[in-house]
Amino acid sequence: MRRLTRQAIEDLVPYPPGKPIEELERELGISGSIKLASNENPIGPSPLAVQAILDRVDSLNRYPDGSCYYLKKKLSGILGLPQSRIIVGNGSNELIELTIRTFLEPEHEVIQAFPTFLVYQKIVSGAGGRMISIPLSEFRIDLDAVSAAVTPQTKMIMINNPNNPTGTALGLDEMRDFLADVPQDVVVVLDEAYIEFASDESIANGLLLSDTHPLLITMRTFSKLYGLAGLRIGYGFASEEVVDYMNRVRQPFNANTLAQAAATAALDDREFVSRTLDVVRDGLAYLYGQLDDMGLPYVPSQTNFFLIKVPMGADRLFKRMLREGVIIRSMASFGLPDYIRINVGLPEENKRFLLTLKDALEEFESTP
Ligand SMILES: Cc1ncc(COP(=O)(O)O)c(C=O)c1O
Repeated sequence: MRRLTRQAIEDLVPYPPGKPIEELERELGISGSIKLASNENPIGPSPLAVQAILDRVDSLNRYPDGSCYYLKKKLSGILGLPQSRIIVGNGSNELIELTIRTFLEPEHEVIQAFPTFLVYQKIVSGAGGRMISIPLSEFRIDLDAVSAAVTPQTKMIMINNPNNPTGTALGLDEMRDFLADVPQDVVVVLDEAYIEFASDESIANGLLLSDTHPLLITMRTFSKLYGLAGLRIGYGFASEEVVDYMNRVRQPFNANTLAQAAATAALDDREFVSRTLDVVRDGLAYLYGQLDDMGLPYVPSQTNFFLIKVPMGADRLFKRMLREGVIIRSMASFGLPDYIRINVGLPEENKRFLLTLKDALEEFESTP
């Protein structure tokens, strides 16, 4: 019988459909659960963004501004780049997909350092490309090993800095040396979804690298620092030529009206940004201290999330904590079956996570 879809699609595994929290709570007979599983901003959306949405609601009968004029104008001022070097997407996920649709032929290879954001593999496989995964070294991206894996078939390299799920970051100098070695016809995607959380100022930053490689594309998002994950909006910057090619592939109305307005306003919300950074940095320090006291190893992070090594298996702990209404992420699907990933929550959420974890550990010690 003739195959229904393209071969590459046959081989894909669907993203596991999560249930809405309300439905999960109903099934488990619990309420007031907390979610620390998706690296979201725990304090809510930027209030200036919310106001901007309310102000634009009446214009929803109109299509969005396909050029994202005001958002790009604001970004252009902040980044110091002309608008022609900026592209806006329906989340940075869309920009990853756009890059692959713009540059990848089915026979091409893409290199990533693994574990990393699982979406790269999914999109590359879906496009019929071949993903080459280079293992991390002590939770860090091994740029020498990534360089060594480049072949004439390599079309693209995906670098997530800081890296999800490890939270570790590459230095500016090592990234500069790496880029100098990458062949000029290989596209380098630098996904900086979490860069604003980094406290180490010496880490790599696409803005400082934007002229070091002709096909470097840096991507950022409003989903994390600005608390707008539900709206779906992100941006990228690259050379004018690269942005021009990506714009040819992009759907004209890919970024919706409310998302554009909210993102533009959020960029002015200094109070919200500084409150978010305080919550994340204070939360990390608190959680690290408590985990030290409990003797649990963790991977220090430059982001709003981090990995914790647990003695009873991550999947088992995930299920145990879910029953108590604490939603964490097992790293088994990232090839790290003894690790969980949590994002920093509100102070009371961090406390509740630790209490639930302690209970689970005690239970495990009595019945391993
Ligand atoms: C590394 C990385 N890149 C991109 C994204 C997605 O960002 P967006 O919500 O802008 O699509 C995430 C979200 O979890 C992420 O972890």
